[in-house]
Amino acid sequence: MAESADPKPEVKYYTPDPSYRQNSWMGDYTWAYNEFLKDPEAFWAKIASKLYWYAPWEKVREWNYPYAKWFVGGKTNITYNCLDRHVLGKNRNKVALIWKGETDEEERVFTYRQLLREVNRFANGLRELGVGKGDRVCIYMPMIPEQVIAMLACARIGAVHSVVFGGYGAAALNQRIVGAGAKVVITADMAVRRGKSIPLKHVIEEAIINAPTVERLIVLRRETGRPVEIHSEMEMDFYEVTKDMSPECHPEVMDSEDPMFILYTSGTTGAPKGIVHTCGGYMVGVYYTTKYIFDLKESDVYWCTADPGWITGHSYVVYGPLAVGGTILISENTPDYPDPGIWWKMVEEYGVSILYTAPTAIRMFMKLGEEWPDKYNLNSLRILGSVGEPLNPEAFEWFYHVIGKDRCPIVDTWWQTETGMHMITTVLGEPMRPGYAGKSIPGVVVDVVDKDGKPVKPGESGLLVIKEPWPAMMRTVYNNDERYRKYWEAVPGCYLVGDLAIKGTDGNIMVIGRSDDLIVVAGHNIGTAEVESALVSHKAVAEAAVIGKPDPLKGNTIKAFVTLRVGHTPSDKLKNELIYHVRITLGPIAMPSEIEFMDSLPKTRSGKIVRRVLKAKEMGADPGDVSTLEE
Ligand code: PRX
Repeated sequence: MAESADPKPEVKYYTPDPSYRQNSWMGDYTWAYNEFLKDPEAFWAKIASKLYWYAPWEKVREWNYPYAKWFVGGKTNITYNCLDRHVLGKNRNKVALIWKGETDEEERVFTYRQLLREVNRFANGLRELGVGKGDRVCIYMPMIPEQVIAMLACARIGAVHSVVFGGYGAAALNQRIVGAGAKVVITADMAVRRGKSIPLKHVIEEAIINAPTVERLIVLRRETGRPVEIHSEMEMDFYEVTKDMSPECHPEVMDSEDPMFILYTSGTTGAPKGIVHTCGGYMVGVYYTTKYIFDLKESDVYWCTADPGWITGHSYVVYGPLAVGGTILISENTPDYPDPGIWWKMVEEYGVSILYTAPTAIRMFMKLGEEWPDKYNLNSLRILGSVGEPLNPEAFEWFYHVIGKDRCPIVDTWWQTETGMHMITTVLGEPMRPGYAGKSIPGVVVDVVDKDGKPVKPGESGLLVIKEPWPAMMRTVYNNDERYRKYWEAVPGCYLVGDLAIKGTDGNIMVIGRSDDLIVVAGHNIGTAEVESALVSHKAVAEAAVIGKPDPLKGNTIKAFVTLRVGHTPSDKLKNELIYHVRITLGPIAMPSEIEFMDSLPKTRSGKIVRRVLKAKEMGADPGDVSTLEE
């Protein structure tokens, strides 16, 4: 690849070898984008027609601002497209899924045929338990094949899954189970991390105490040589559910607009938002982006390092790559265990050709040194991907040079739980500008605007917005449609993303960070309000305010300012106790790295805590207008 410079010397681009564009599914970006602009509905209809529908749609799009319907009247089932289509075609014995545990011996491989049979068995088992179309099922599992099987089994029978990341604590899990009104919860007895087993079942047991809708708890026993303790009639062994079940299962015929899953994401209030995605549009969106943004081909070995508990895992571990018919690698490992070479060893051993990961991981590897990747042959890599937070220029350069060997293009994909699919990136073959994610992908219209919706001038910053509906967009916030409408009402005519961005003079977009009260820690959204309410649930805490502090490794860390109730005094012991309290309430990802005790917190006269003042103080910056604050 050639390194070239913009007319302005400080702007640096990396231009991929022309063969990337020539051989890609997408072809020329400008041409593809113009095809979309010429006739958006025809553009999406052409993509959707590559998938199987029991009944065709009558209308591609129905847009009653802010409500969209896609492929209206179409009937389908995403699992038919992810599994049966390949089994009935020529890929019956193609490897669909490779799972790698922490040790060399732990490996499980499923062909498309085998995966379909496992999904069908479990789907039949769920049906037998009375689970059907529209019922909500919570999946709280570690990263093992059964997590993927459980998701697909729900989609097979039209049950709406709500996957909760296996690292969440009991209170966070309870909130999500109750929020979705889950009828069944599926879990495992334990997760494995750094050679140790982490019990999961007791977290679930605590989380379902006040969850009256839960009728069944299905527990997967992992290969520990010991049976799962079954405490009540409510509990069932995963293998009991699948035992004697037929490997054939009729997929539920789903309307394009039937809900497919709910995925909770942190909100700016204490309650997480249940983002609702539907069957047809989501399927088309993730199929399209996996095929055209990752350029997934027949011979690729594709590894997305995300956990299916996040949207990245839903769209780009499970549904997108399976819809395209890829070979997917998943791993339960920790990136530096047993040593920091494990990922690169896996790339070499499995011949990974597409690697999709997060800036936090890249920065961690940067810190650990080049000697680790340099030990392994990374020639199989063809395309690198990044997601979750801004890929800063230093991390871009390292990823590009050290891992991609100046050869592999990087697709820095900007998107969200709400968008369901990629929205901004630098399409293969286009010049890549470190620090800038890129442009709207064909099919999507993104812009940077001021608060009135007026586009900012090139070179200026503003609010990132989306101007047209797209197939994989969320349809509502579960049981809170008002919250959904807010996304579309804050800026006239636009979906407000909640990120600040800069529009470069070359049209590329740099995403700077959140404009609201969310903190992105190691690529995961944490609501300040969630952490604050976890802190005030501790008996010693009167009030709490939480801010994000820039961190070279994780993007941000969490700092909490806390005032104490009468009778409690600040101490290091109490700090540790509070951090532990957040850990067990919300899970390790939401743990503050720092706690500072305060006599009082800055507030408006109406009593609202003003976090920006705390942040300014922390960063040594000007706190801005403080005239409206209490003395
Ligand atoms: O702030 C943006 C950041 O992550 C947010 C979405 O988080 P979530 O819904 O958890 O989904 C993460 C995985 C898609 C965005 O609003 N974000 C995501 N990707 C990028 C990013 N920020 C900068 N560059 C990205 N590529």
